[in-house]
Amino acid sequence: MSAYPEHLDVAAIRADFPALARTVRNDNPLVYLDSGATSQKPVQVLDAEREFYERHNGAAHRGTHLLGEEATDVYEGARAKVAAFLGAGPGEVVFTKNATEAINLVAYALSNDRSGSFRVGPGDEILITEMEHHANLVPWQQLCERTGATLRWLDVTPEGRLDLDHLDSMITGRTRIVAVTHQSNVTGTIPPVAEIARAAHEKGALVLADAAQSVPHQPVDVAALGVDFLAFSAHKMLGPYGIGVLFGRASLLEAMPPFLTGGSMIEVVRMEGSTFLPPPQRFEPGVPAVAEAAGLAAAVDYLSRLGMGNVAAHEESLTAHALDALREIDGLRILGPDTTKDRGGAVAFEVEGVHPHDVGQVLDELGIAVRTGHHCAWPLHRALGVQASTRATFYVYNTHGEVDALADGIRYAQRFFKAG
Ligand SMILES: Cc1ncc(COP(=O)(O)O)c(C=O)c1O
Repeated sequence: MSAYPEHLDVAAIRADFPALARTVRNDNPLVYLDSGATSQKPVQVLDAEREFYERHNGAAHRGTHLLGEEATDVYEGARAKVAAFLGAGPGEVVFTKNATEAINLVAYALSNDRSGSFRVGPGDEILITEMEHHANLVPWQQLCERTGATLRWLDVTPEGRLDLDHLDSMITGRTRIVAVTHQSNVTGTIPPVAEIARAAHEKGALVLADAAQSVPHQPVDVAALGVDFLAFSAHKMLGPYGIGVLFGRASLLEAMPPFLTGGSMIEVVRMEGSTFLPPPQRFEPGVPAVAEAAGLAAAVDYLSRLGMGNVAAHEESLTAHALDALREIDGLRILGPDTTKDRGGAVAFEVEGVHPHDVGQVLDELGIAVRTGHHCAWPLHRALGVQASTRATFYVYNTHGEVDALADGIRYAQRFFKAG
């Protein structure tokens, strides 16, 4: 029996992904280890989008004709499916362009609330962490610049965990929101978001979780996490580009001002001014991305059929294998936790004497797709003492053979550059 148990029928899964059947450079089979950037898409998702365009294409929430009605059903059906997947109510799911837009929506509300209940100002504090993707960092910097609030952050330990020793003193009576990743896209670290949320709520602060790397890979229940907001993108969870999700607690969305404005989000418009629909429509101006919503719903169905517990277990098995295999390579340093405890399937590393871009290029020549650079987490790289890294990320279709191919490829790169 393999040391790494199987939790999914990976051969059957791979048959659903046309891209995985192709060969790439030098006629090598594609070894796709970049799902953290964007996942591949199964035929079920592609079919759902095609079927929408072939049969139901109309503008949701607009026409009185049958196609418009069907489009509305597809769109609202997708919302209900996503809500059930997260343990939320349908009115608590706002469709955005991606996770980045979802986070910006919340950051903007905190500076544009004319009624005052959300308004942030000088003396207020926003707490983030050094581990964040730029999508959960730059919008908060901008919020502070607009409002005069102060940005504070939790540090990262040399092991790549959040330093929570000073959590209680870092969250103060002036903290308005704590925005934290639910899984690092570099080190795979899974911070204790539920614990952080409890501490934040005790001081009256709101909590946003950046779930771009968690919702695709582990069961996520917003009630159990205790967060007020949660953001993610469809394209990292087998779904299409162009659609993302903001979960927001109903009472908060109700009180929040709109972000982008225009058609489809208004109640009454006069030349002198306008009033707005209740959420979620208040936050969804313009003709909605219905085909993308259909694709996202198919992705949720696909993942639900596999079972998110099995998805997480499969990735844990691949991650354990990768950590074991990479640890054996002389001159290689894994960034982040050395075990799979509270750690997901993102494995970033540096290879002594070989620049990450060169590692990536040699792997690419072998057909192995990884990501190189700072992965939109520059401060985290600085905290870990590196400028850049090479990163492999795993998903439902990856095999243990591909983990071995990665390790062999890194050794080949070391030989090629006479390192290690
Ligand atoms: C942790 C994390 N947050 C946010 C994002 C932003 O996602 P998107 O570019 O789809 O908005 C990413 C994308 O890589 C991510 O990994």
